Amino acid sequence: MYKEEELNKLKKECVNCKKCTLSEKRNNIVFSDGNENAKILLIGEAPGAEEDLSGIPFVGRAGKLLTKLIEECGFSRKNDFYICNTVKCRPPENRIPTDEEKKLCENYLLSQIKIVNPKVIVLCGATSAKSFLGNKIKISQIRGNWYKLFDNIDTTVIFHPSYLLRNHSEEEGSPRWLTKQDLMKIKDFIS
Ligand code: URA
Repeated sequence: MYKEEELNKLKKECVNCKKCTLSEKRNNIVFSDGNENAKILLIGEAPGAEEDLSGIPFVGRAGKLLTKLIEECGFSRKNDFYICNTVKCRPPENRIPTDEEKKLCENYLLSQIKIVNPKVIVLCGATSAKSFLGNKIKISQIRGNWYKLFDNIDTTVIFHPSYLLRNHSEEEGSPRWLTKQDLMKIKDFIS
């Protein structure tokens, strides 16, 4: 089966999913955006209000900032990234998804990773990083680090754009500056 077909099949399973209570209030599942043949698979936290309405990840304020930063680093969001989240449905009031919700949704994400088979996984923000690297991690200490996950897939960590929305400085050493450095490293790595 082609990637697109496999992903469509998986998406249909998500549309019908009622494994957790997040399904009760959703307008849409938020499955993915971007290119299933991309070398980079980015995993965010969870859909917010605009994502829930549109069914597309990272389209709200944080998403717009993420898009701006990746484009400033010379990437195309549409072509260079496959973007998804740790959970497919919006948690109420944009709270952090619980470990149980993440666990119940995990197989969808693991299947997406398996089908896309990226060269690099980018864990975007603390929730995403904790899902794969353990609840004890501190994002400020591990962003920019590289790990091997699954079948030896190179994986790195960046700050979440919601955090960057609260930190405007672009001065050397600032979170936005560090994020751009991290994105440029990813660029070097895939080219
Ligand atoms: N924040 C996320 O982590 N994911 C989205 O899709 C939107 C905002």
